[in-house]
Amino acid sequence: MHVTMIAAMARNRVIGTGQGKIPWSLPRDREHFRNFTKGKHLLLGRVTYEEMSGWFSDHTPIVLTRRVDYQPEGGKAAHSVEESLTLAAEDGARELCICGGAHIYQAALPYTDELHLTLVDTEAEGRVLFPDYEGGISWEKVSEESFPADEENPHTMTFLHLQRKSPSSLRPSRMHWG
Ligand SMILES: NC(=O)c1ccc[n+]([C@@H]2O[C@H](COP(=O)([O-])OP(=O)(O)OC[C@H]3O[C@@H](n4cnc5c(N)ncnc54)[C@H](OP(=O)(O)O)[C@@H]3O)[C@@H](O)[C@H]2O)c1
Repeated sequence: MHVTMIAAMARNRVIGTGQGKIPWSLPRDREHFRNFTKGKHLLLGRVTYEEMSGWFSDHTPIVLTRRVDYQPEGGKAAHSVEESLTLAAEDGARELCICGGAHIYQAALPYTDELHLTLVDTEAEGRVLFPDYEGGISWEKVSEESFPADEENPHTMTFLHLQRKSPSSLRPSRMHWG
């Protein structure tokens, strides 16, 4: 199972306001997110999943929750990252894409092979932060592409694609996921 992660964060690592919103409106990044996740199995925290309700027409959401009786519409509930990987593998997926929020990024980072970060060139207000992805994990840059602000996109943004340099001891292959 290949594990990818996609997130957009400000210079100060803010990814959310804390009131259920993303602190910017960037159509170019929304399109990037849609293109990257299309047709994939996604792992989302229960909070993010409910905020994005109605969005998953072409995806298979797996929702991380501690609730035992939670039934996400059109998807499955998981109670740990390991369980989500098993569920995706049982479903025939070759990739699980981690889509946030902060709690889920933190929990899934040790399993992540590839990181697709949108670096939004602003100091955003908000208390939901992307984890310290460089602390303890080495990444290699695969590509980096920047777009200046324009009429529709009020901030410069950089699409950064990173690959993990060395597999973690939590690699799913060690645990017999395909
Ligand atoms: N900029 C971006 O790219 C981006 C992307 C996605 C989200 N966001 C932001 O992130 C915000 C939400 O982030 P968040 O951290 O508050 O919520 P979250 O990660 O979406 O969901 C948190 C919920 O996930 C479940 N959970 C968390 N850790 C778990 C674990 N170890 N095992 C089992 N279940 C677990 C719990 O659900 P239960 O309460 O059901 O037990 C918890 O309440 C959104 O409002 C949005 O602003 C930003």
